[in-house]
Amino acid sequence: MVNWTEMDQRIKTWIMEAGSSIRESFKHSLSIHTKSNPNDLVTNIDKETERFFIANIRKVYPGHRILGEEGQGDDLASLKGIVWIIDPIDGTTNFIHQQRHFAISIGVYENGVGRLGYIYDVAHDELYYAERGKGAYMNGVRLPSLTEVSVEKALIALNATWLVKNRYFDERKLVNLAVQVRGTRSYGSAALELAYVAAGRLDGYLSMRLSPWDFAAGKLLVEEAGGCVTNLFGEDLNMIKINSVFAGAPILHGRILDEFLLKD
Ligand code: IPD
Ligand code: CA
Ligand code: CA
Ligand code: CA
Repeated sequence: MVNWTEMDQRIKTWIMEAGSSIRESFKHSLSIHTKSNPNDLVTNIDKETERFFIANIRKVYPGHRILGEEGQGDDLASLKGIVWIIDPIDGTTNFIHQQRHFAISIGVYENGVGRLGYIYDVAHDELYYAERGKGAYMNGVRLPSLTEVSVEKALIALNATWLVKNRYFDERKLVNLAVQVRGTRSYGSAALELAYVAAGRLDGYLSMRLSPWDFAAGKLLVEEAGGCVTNLFGEDLNMIKINSVFAGAPILHGRILDEFLLKD
């Protein structure tokens, strides 16, 4: 039997330690490398932070498996058992260019079901977390259930890339949505954008292509705050593949699907 309360305490301690090392790293120069393309960046701090979590998890929970963005975890074909899904720094471009608007994201799943989720905004020292069935919190304060708003009054986060012709989704549907809502925002960290939906700072968030480590924690947070998280076709997310992601309060989520995303 897993002691989730004990695990929660440990994760919070590890996150705080990792967060202060990351803040400390601001004083030193970064070693920056590119991955799949010139805009896909990784630093020594992304790798060190992932290594820090993996070493701690392996020591205390040797039977658990780990899926991490920087590839130092396990190669997973399924979510059987307990799986930690880790993005050591979500928003690496912001980390490098701005030293803010990035987060540590950790989701703990049991047989594919989210049990614990953490998103730590390192620069602002804001820890968003959720435990299945126990609600969503920010720095110890329970987040209220999401408030419904009309499409016209909604503030939605999405990346401008999706408003130009792309191979993943009909951009005209998103342009229609973008002109109907009260405003659009783009923060450059999927994890933080999902945390903002959970905290009511945003009414919705859409992305065409995210990996499990980008949304594992955020999905649980939004759901524990009473919201819905699906792909852009209204389907469940696949937790070991790349997905499109759409999060928001249930009525608004349904309206945007019916009136924009699924409409011909
Ligand atoms: C990225 C951020 C960004 C999203 C990208 C992600 P990374 O994560 O979440 O907001 O638009 O798709 O890859 O690489 O900075 O961890
Ligand atoms: Ca990355
Ligand atoms: Ca990420
Ligand atoms: Ca990352």
